[in-house]
Amino acid sequence: MGFLSDNMDQAFGAYEKGLDKMDYNPESREVGRVISVARGVAQVEGLKSVRSEELLTLGNGVQGMALDLLPDSIGVALLGRSADLSAGDEAIPSGTVLSVPVGEALIGRVVDPLGNPLDDGPMLDTNQTRPIECEAPPILMRAPVDTPMASGLKVVDTLIPIGRGQRELILGDRQTGKTAVALDIILNQKKGDVVCVYCAIGQRSTSVARVISALRKHGAMAYTFVVVVEGDAPSGMQYIAPYAATSMAEYFMEQGRDVLIVYDDLTRHAQAYRQLSLLMRRPPGREAFPGDIFYIHSRLLERSTRLSPKHGGGTLTALPIVETEAQNISAYIPTNLISITDGQIYLSPVLFQKGLLPAVDVGKSVSRVGGRAQPVAYRKVSGDLRLTYSQFQELEAFARFGTRLDKDTRKRLDHGVRVRELLKQDRFSPLSAAEQLVILWAASLGLLDEVPLDKIGDIQDFILADARDNFADFERLPKADSNDKIWEDLKLNIKKCIDLWGVSDASS
Ligand SMILES: Nc1ncnc2c1ncn2[C@@H]1O[C@H](COP(=O)(O)OP(=O)(O)O)[C@@H](O)[C@H]1O
Ligand SMILES: [Mg+2]
Repeated sequence: MGFLSDNMDQAFGAYEKGLDKMDYNPESREVGRVISVARGVAQVEGLKSVRSEELLTLGNGVQGMALDLLPDSIGVALLGRSADLSAGDEAIPSGTVLSVPVGEALIGRVVDPLGNPLDDGPMLDTNQTRPIECEAPPILMRAPVDTPMASGLKVVDTLIPIGRGQRELILGDRQTGKTAVALDIILNQKKGDVVCVYCAIGQRSTSVARVISALRKHGAMAYTFVVVVEGDAPSGMQYIAPYAATSMAEYFMEQGRDVLIVYDDLTRHAQAYRQLSLLMRRPPGREAFPGDIFYIHSRLLERSTRLSPKHGGGTLTALPIVETEAQNISAYIPTNLISITDGQIYLSPVLFQKGLLPAVDVGKSVSRVGGRAQPVAYRKVSGDLRLTYSQFQELEAFARFGTRLDKDTRKRLDHGVRVRELLKQDRFSPLSAAEQLVILWAASLGLLDEVPLDKIGDIQDFILADARDNFADFERLPKADSNDKIWEDLKLNIKKCIDLWGVSDASS
């Protein structure tokens, strides 16, 4: 007997040890089956507990995101090549929503929406991730916009000022300089503390390469990273790109930093989402877009904000870009975005053709919150400029009929033309607030109205160089209020310059 019980004890001992070693994780893994695959979308059956936006692995490792949860099947947006996939393949849910790597390691890098490097650099050195869709900060965590996001462009900083935490739409037909404006605003952050993100959606690779090389050449990659999904990538990748880029940007905002993000452009993003929705057989609405197209963009742009000081005081400023067709700003996607954002910069192909660059149409552009953030000194010049400019546009249209003009009208036309000439600005040549104010003060005083139009650029450079070197209070200018004596001093300085220049120009 003793022998038997000894053996039994041994046997039980071994059994218990075995139990200890066993992995007690009785969670059953659902496995679904692909029913059909079509151009970047797969229908999958047999998955009951999958959540919206959950990551799945299909077939031999193609990743996808659950987008459309129906009673009998789910629609999955593929993030890889659908050629590798066929009906009958397995679909394994991951149990987690799609997340992207975030962290300091992003700065200076070019990545795809999943954080995979597209430059020649190594994998991102970070162990932090963030879901691609995060809830926007609630109202109580937010603070009003009160700090300028200097664009370096005279026409924007004066007439359509942008504040940190604002959402300003850039819209216009193709080839009107939308990307150029956004890029100039990024380059202007060089001397500051702003982290910049350029998110390219659905563009040709040559266009993206041009932007990246400009960022490199002008030293902007020291504080910028680029998220790229090209036009030939699966629609699912194009759809997730702006959300993923925003999650990467939010990481920096939550560190209390100021962040600027450019989405170039949301027209392509909307088209990718339309394609996904049509393939998933969702009912199409206006312009064949699905009913929730407004929601996908408002959800994205709600995430841009200024956090209250208690929550670190970080900001996320968004510059979404939208392409219009034949100047139709009342098409579906542009109107949606106009109503979601805090203002828009409209670029006109007519101004572009006339060489009035940047081709900002001041009459159709507005900034609804940036005025509060504008440095006080701009008030001295902006009100007057806006008024003379809009009057001038009407007069100019009228004067084209060849009517005989009285002296006063002639004078106002001469002034308007010069103001417009002074608002022109080359690419890659941002101006500081002090520099802008010198030029704008000269413009609003009409000091240059006698100068021939083709000399405006030269005299502008001359006045600027002189102000930088000889005007003692130059740096203080952006902080000056309207009653400051500085304005009189500056006026004398500019007049002196014009006289000097007249002499040197006549002698040359
Ligand atoms: N301020 C400017 N001065 C000179 N050229 C410009 C300016 N803005 C844009 N361009 C030129 O116009 C072309 C179209 O600009 P781009 O920004 O690519 O337009 P969009 O993004 O609206 O299609 C580019 O070749 C660009 O170099
Ligand atoms: Mg562009």
